[in-house]
Formats: sequence, structure tokens, C-alpha cells
Amino acid sequence: MSEEIIHHGLDGVVVDTTSVSKVMPEINSLVYRGYPVQELSEHCSFEEVAWLIWHGELPTAKELAGFMENGRNQRAISKELLEVIQKSPRTAHPMDVLRTAVSFLGSEDLEMDKTDATTNLKRSVSMMAKIPTIIAAFYRHRKGQEFIPSRSDLGFVENFFHMVFGKVPAPEVIKAFEVSMILYAEHGFNASTFTTRVIVSSLSDIYSGVVGGIASLKGPLHGGANEAVMHMLLEIGEPARAKDWMLAALRDKRVVMGFGHRVYKNGDSRVPTMKKYARKMAEFTGSKKWLDIEDTLEAVMLEQKNIHPNLDFPSGPAYYMMGFDIDMFTPFFVMARITGWTAHILEQNANNRLIRPLSKYTGAGERRVVPLKQRG
Ligand code: COA
Repeated sequence: MSEEIIHHGLDGVVVDTTSVSKVMPEINSLVYRGYPVQELSEHCSFEEVAWLIWHGELPTAKELAGFMENGRNQRAISKELLEVIQKSPRTAHPMDVLRTAVSFLGSEDLEMDKTDATTNLKRSVSMMAKIPTIIAAFYRHRKGQEFIPSRSDLGFVENFFHMVFGKVPAPEVIKAFEVSMILYAEHGFNASTFTTRVIVSSLSDIYSGVVGGIASLKGPLHGGANEAVMHMLLEIGEPARAKDWMLAALRDKRVVMGFGHRVYKNGDSRVPTMKKYARKMAEFTGSKKWLDIEDTLEAVMLEQKNIHPNLDFPSGPAYYMMGFDIDMFTPFFVMARITGWTAHILEQNANNRLIRPLSKYTGAGERRVVPLKQRG
């Protein structure tokens, strides 16, 4: 029998085709449906990009107006779901509450027997509309603050800030957050997206796929890294300490959060755009020190190991400067990635084959069962 080749971590394995996005590590580029993310970030709203990811084309003004009206009218969550959120322990991580809440949304769906693409796209729009409400509801609940209902006259990002803080911040803040949403929206067959595809490949439902995506994204090697980056910056504290901290981390062979990527080895295509907007946040808030620390960390890491930062490196401090609690950062990733996940679920459903890889057995050789009485 020929020797099996093991692709540990599925490194380098092409599992299927996709028309949603293309990651091009050789030229540090990423396109959604053919459009470079940098251009989408500068010229489009997150709602336009969501439409693009789902439909394959940028919307016309009329299509966008209809889409926005539809989404904005679905932001409210049921009284029962609000109660579930408000009964969650205040100490819970928001990702755990969000995972439960999306599962609850599935249980509220009265048409679960419908599995066609049109119904699943409607569910996707509904989840995109409701996830910010869920996140904001838990944010306020755990601070002992009253729930703020969504407003249908505000954009996606403006409404989110309104539900969290009770006010809409300056346009600079809105734009920086919106750019982060566009950059986080989609990224090929990453761990959480692949998880959603594996789940629905058994013909399980779209909510189950998204719940699995949230569970996968939570880990610090994936979405959880944006939180870990900010904890690291707080631990370092001052720019003057950054170089020694990094040298010690590398000497101790520690994994430094916000660096490295399975696919990009010469730099993450999304980093320059997010860095630009993180810098705008630093200018806006007058708080430069986090990015000064990052500049030193990045220079030392490049010099010592030639490893580049990933998107979580600039997004972490950007969110912190906007005034958010650190454990909210990964839920923000969900607010954006719900678009990519569901586009992949629709794609998987359209040309499904059960995802079922093989493994090479390395356990005990075949042996006989000794009955309990004789085992002593
Ligand atoms: N800090 C220190 N060393 C790192 C590193 C990091 N963040 N990322 C990679 N490396 C090193 C590895 O130790 C390994 O070194 P070695 O060859 O001397 O053993 C080498 O770079 C290759 O890394 P590898 O672990 O094979 O990469 P991977 O493709 O399996 O892992 C990540 C990719 C993203 C999981 C990894 O880079 C990581 O853990 N990064 C930190 C978490 C993070 O920021 N995640 C967000 C990703 S968008």
C-alpha cells in the first residue's frame, strides 16, 4: 500500500472551488468577487460589501436602498431572545453569549424545513441585522445598563454605536469601524469558514453552520487574536519597554499574537488599510502610545524572524481607542464575517458533497477483549 501523505492542519490542501474571494499571498492581495479589499474599504459601505459578497456584484443605488431598508427593519430581536441574553452570567465571554443567541435564533425559525437558497439568503440578512443587537444587548446588560433598541434610520455601524453607547460618534470613528468590518468580512477557506462548510455539508442548517463558525473563530489562533493583541499591548504598557519585551518573547519561543499567517508569509493584504485607520484613531483620540509600541514590536519581529503582522494587530488597538471593552473585539469579527460564512454556506449547499477526510491510524495494534472478570 502506498505511504499516505499527511497534510497536518490541512496546510496547502485545496479542498474545493469558491467564487467568493481570492487570497493571493504572492502579491499580498485579497479580492472579494474580483474587487480588491483596499478599494472596497475606501469607496464602499459595509452594507454594499455584504451585498457584493452574497450576490457577486456591487449593488445599484436602487438595490442598495431596498437591501438597507430590508436589513434595517430586521434589527429587532424577540423579547424571549433578549431575556436569554439578559439571563446570561455577566461574567460570560460575549462570544459564548453570541454563540448561544444565534443558536436561539435558529430555534425561533418557524420554517426550518425550508432549505432553499432564497430562504437561506433571507436568514443570512436577518442574522447580519440581529447580531449587532445581540452583542450590544449583552454589552449593556453586563454593565447593569438598560437595553437600547435599534434604530432603523441609522447605518449599520452608526446603529451599533447607538445601541452600545447611546450615541453616534464622529464620522472618523464610524469610518474606521466600517473599514474593519469590510476587511474582516471574508477570507477564503479559513478555519471558521471551513467549519461552517463542514457543518452544512451534512445537510445541517445554516444557523448550525454559523454557530460552529462562531465557536471556531473564538480561538486565539484565529479571531481571538485581536483581543490577545490588546492584552499584550497593555502588558507592555510603554513604547520604551516594547523592544525588550519582544526579544524576551522570542527568546522564550512564545507565540506573539497578531503575527504570522497560514497563507500570507510576506505580509497580510489587509494590514496597510487597517493600520491607516488605526492611525487616524490615534490622531483622533490623541493616544499614540499603542501604535508606537506596535511599531517597535513589528520592527523587532521582522528583523529577528521575518514574520509580518496580521489584521488583528492593527484592529485590536483601533477598537480599544474607540472605547470598547477588549472582549468585544472578536464578536465584532462575527458582525462582519457573518457575510462571508453565509456566502460560503450557500455555495456549499449549491454544489454539496459531504466533507469527510481520512486519518492515518497510529493507535494500538488489533487485540482481543479480555472479559472484565478475567482482567483482575
Ligand atoms: N509568534 C512567534 N513565532 C511565530 C508566530 C508568532 N505569532 N507565527 C509563526 N511563528 C513561527 C513558528 O513558531 C514557526 O517557527 P519554526 O519554523 O521555527 O518552528 C514558523 O513561524 C512557522 O509557523 P507555523 O506555526 O508553521 O505557522 P502556521 O501556519 O501553523 O500558524 C498562525 C499560523 C496564524 C496560527 C500562527 O502564525 C500564530 O499562532 N499566530 C499568532 C496568532 C494570531 O495572530 N492569529 C491570527 C491569525 S489571522
